[in-house]
Amino acid sequence: MNAVWRTSVLGLLISITILVSESSCMNGNQTSQNGSFPESEVNTTLFVQMGAKALLCCPALPMTKTILILWVITPRGQPPCRIIYRAETKHINETNCTDRRITWASTSDQRPDLQIDAVALDHDGLYSCDIATPTGNFLRSHDLHVLVPPAVTLFPGENRAAVCEAIAGKPAAQIFWTPDGDHITKKESHSNGTVTVRSTYHWEQNNVSVVFCFVSHPTGNQTLSIELNQVTGVTITLRSLLTILYVKLSLLVIILLILGFAFFQKNNYFRK
Ligand SMILES: *[C@@H]1O[C@H](CO)[C@@H](O)[C@H](O)[C@H]1NC(C)=O
Ligand SMILES: *[C@@H]1O[C@H](CO)[C@@H](O)[C@H](O)[C@H]1NC(C)=O
Ligand SMILES: *[C@@H]1O[C@H](CO)[C@@H](O)[C@H](O)[C@H]1NC(C)=O
Ligand SMILES: *[C@@H]1O[C@H](CO)[C@@H](O)[C@H](O)[C@H]1NC(C)=O
Ligand SMILES: *[C@@H]1O[C@H](CO)[C@@H](O)[C@H](O)[C@H]1NC(C)=O
Repeated sequence: MNAVWRTSVLGLLISITILVSESSCMNGNQTSQNGSFPESEVNTTLFVQMGAKALLCCPALPMTKTILILWVITPRGQPPCRIIYRAETKHINETNCTDRRITWASTSDQRPDLQIDAVALDHDGLYSCDIATPTGNFLRSHDLHVLVPPAVTLFPGENRAAVCEAIAGKPAAQIFWTPDGDHITKKESHSNGTVTVRSTYHWEQNNVSVVFCFVSHPTGNQTLSIELNQVTGVTITLRSLLTILYVKLSLLVIILLILGFAFFQKNNYFRK
């Protein structure tokens, strides 16, 4: 069957929408230096595709003003890790920090920012940097969301159906069909935070020759298509085979009837 059905990737749009939004923390346009408030806070949501680099920035302040830097890293579902840097002694104290993949963004220029070279699923979580200065505390927190592109397939199902799958994507992909039709979509969540979405499309009309499955995901959209006329063709061939058989059988019956009639006539003739 698979040889008859053909699946083709029409468009594979790998334009990553919201990946590492900053390449450097230095041009910090999101700094919140408001001296009149003792504590100011900036929250950002960061979407990073698995395997890409993530830069986690602290409030951009001159290091001369810094007394203490506190990083609290809280991966989702795990205990927090704390990193304390005291400017006076240049001493770093870490508690519960075991992930060696999280490093200082730069070792040369004393920047307090962190980086992850290749983001993994378990890096999903909250990262907050608190800088204490003589004029107050400056806080910047990042809600890091790791994106995983789903593996997309489209294959024939039973009883005039097509099945479109977006396997282990994060977040869950969305599946749309063209032409719009009868479909059932189910989601299956995995323990690692990814989701498999499976949509089964049924078509009733004979005139539908191709269906398109459009998979929408923040890491890029994909359109797959499947041709149905081949399968309809098989049905037609089966039907015509049956028709031919029916016609042949009917002819055979007619011939047999004629022969039988002739035989009967002959017998009658000789009996006379
Ligand atoms: C360190 O981790 C343990 C659990 O492993 C947790 O109970 C504790 O609160 C953590 N310490 C800090 C300072 O976050
Ligand atoms: C590091 O911090 C812990 C508690 O957060 C403390 O018990 C320990 O003495 C500190 N170590 C140093 C060297 O400052
Ligand atoms: C997440 O779990 C699913 C199901 O076990 C697996 O297929 C997938 O490869 C995993 N993804 C990653 C990125 O580890
Ligand atoms: C298929 O037939 C239905 C009616 O049976 C019609 O509404 C629909 O527009 C047709 N679709 C195409 C692609 O011709
Ligand atoms: C993907 O499709 C959605 C609509 O579902 C659209 O809003 C988005 O811009 C598309 N993304 C890309 C990268 O083309």
